[in-house]
Amino acid sequence: MQAIVNISYLVAVILLIQGLRKLSHPSTARKGNITAAIGMGLAIIASLVAPIESGANNYLVIIIALVIGAIIGLVMSKRVAMTAMPELVSLFNGLGGACAVAISFIELYQYQSSFTSGESVEIGSHLTTQLAMFVGAVAFTGSLIAYGKLAGKIKDWKIPMSTYVNIGLLLITLGLIIFRVMMPDASFILPVVILVISLVYGVTFVQPIGGADMPVVISLLNALTGVAAALAGIVYGNQMMLIGGILVGSSGTILTVVMCNAMNRSLFNVIIGGFGGSTASGGQQGEQVVKEATVNDVAVMLRYSDNVMVVPGYGMAVAQAQKTIKELDNLLSEHGVNVNYAIHPVAGRMPGHMNVLLAEADVPYPKLLDMDDANDQMGETNITLVVGANDVVNPAAQDDPSSPIYGMPILEILKGQNVIVMKRSMNAGYAGIQNPLFFHDKTRMLFGDAKASIQGLIDEVKSLG
Ligand code: TAP
Repeated sequence: MQAIVNISYLVAVILLIQGLRKLSHPSTARKGNITAAIGMGLAIIASLVAPIESGANNYLVIIIALVIGAIIGLVMSKRVAMTAMPELVSLFNGLGGACAVAISFIELYQYQSSFTSGESVEIGSHLTTQLAMFVGAVAFTGSLIAYGKLAGKIKDWKIPMSTYVNIGLLLITLGLIIFRVMMPDASFILPVVILVISLVYGVTFVQPIGGADMPVVISLLNALTGVAAALAGIVYGNQMMLIGGILVGSSGTILTVVMCNAMNRSLFNVIIGGFGGSTASGGQQGEQVVKEATVNDVAVMLRYSDNVMVVPGYGMAVAQAQKTIKELDNLLSEHGVNVNYAIHPVAGRMPGHMNVLLAEADVPYPKLLDMDDANDQMGETNITLVVGANDVVNPAAQDDPSSPIYGMPILEILKGQNVIVMKRSMNAGYAGIQNPLFFHDKTRMLFGDAKASIQGLIDEVKSLG
């Protein structure tokens, strides 16, 4: 039986890795999700039938828990709006952390009987269990705070001297863990104190971070949950848990690094809150003026152009303009206009934000160009339609070494012939800085809510016949 279980674990791991691979492209992501879910299902069945030391599995309790968990998961994933996906991920992540806490807390409690009867527990196992509890607790409360911020239930407020508070709490927790491992005794007070401080640290770690930086933090917490699961896998000597934890930990870490690179910010800068959450207009634009376009002007330009590039950004998500854009795309395509979409890796507020919204509007995947491909095609673009994007098209990232986003890769839309920017005002985007693109010769501003403006364009193009 153990051999069958081990082979099932191996197959489950292969399915999980295949699933992750497929998740890296929108056209295969759905299959990737199903592949990984089958792998996880197989792992659950294998661990249920695996022989255990005591010989008796408590199947009734396990099955009741599985059914309740499956129902809650199903209902939540059916109900969640696409835009609330990061919140759901954060909640699920917090539950993963809570699992690691429960497993390691029970294990630590069981070590207690060994200490009471004068037996020793291997230092490595004891340390691993303590660390699993610590990391799981940070991921648990940190994810709940991240969820609260994304859902608008918790406001951004800085804990006074948060950096020092956090360093202090981290050192105290690690110090107590080492003390406990070196001098285990019959009292169970210390592990409880370590648990409480770890839970508090999760709150103080995430609370000072700007609300708009939450996607990066969630990805980091996700990696931490993976580490906690891997540590719990070591505690139980369960390879599946270990490998699953490593996969989550490494993919979460890679995603965190990719997001930070795409914003040209260090993780440290995100954690101490370099920028983010600010909506103030910045930059000195002196007497520069912007040129406004009317819906009619833009409709004529679009109708008689060959190549149009749509650049979606956070404003498209706010306006929920994705379906209206697809309608405009259909209309222009009927007139022989070639419409594509330039997708910046951190456009919007979560990884794949624009892809998810445009897929929801049935925009075919081949039209979604990643940044490098889009930049290659910019030279042939007659009109670039910027729909609620700002930072991801800010040329200061390339030209102005004093800009906070200097060095961030951007969509080079000024390579094209004409730029139309749709936004409601001259307000800044996420980075809180002004955008010289708006004052450029090639640029015309079409002010207003993106959805309403695009609807206006559809009506005008139709009236042109
Ligand atoms: P932003 O720079 O945030 O700009 C969005 C623009 O949309 C704003 O300037 C806003 O201007 C406009 N807008 C808002 N509501 C609108 C509406 N209803 N209609 C039309 N326009 C509207 O967006 P971006 O270019 O997508 O850049 C994303 C930023 O978020 C980057 O700085 C990135 O580093 C950061 N970030 C991204 C992620 C991920 S993973 N995607 C994670 C964390 C942070 P008005 O108010 O004038 O309309």
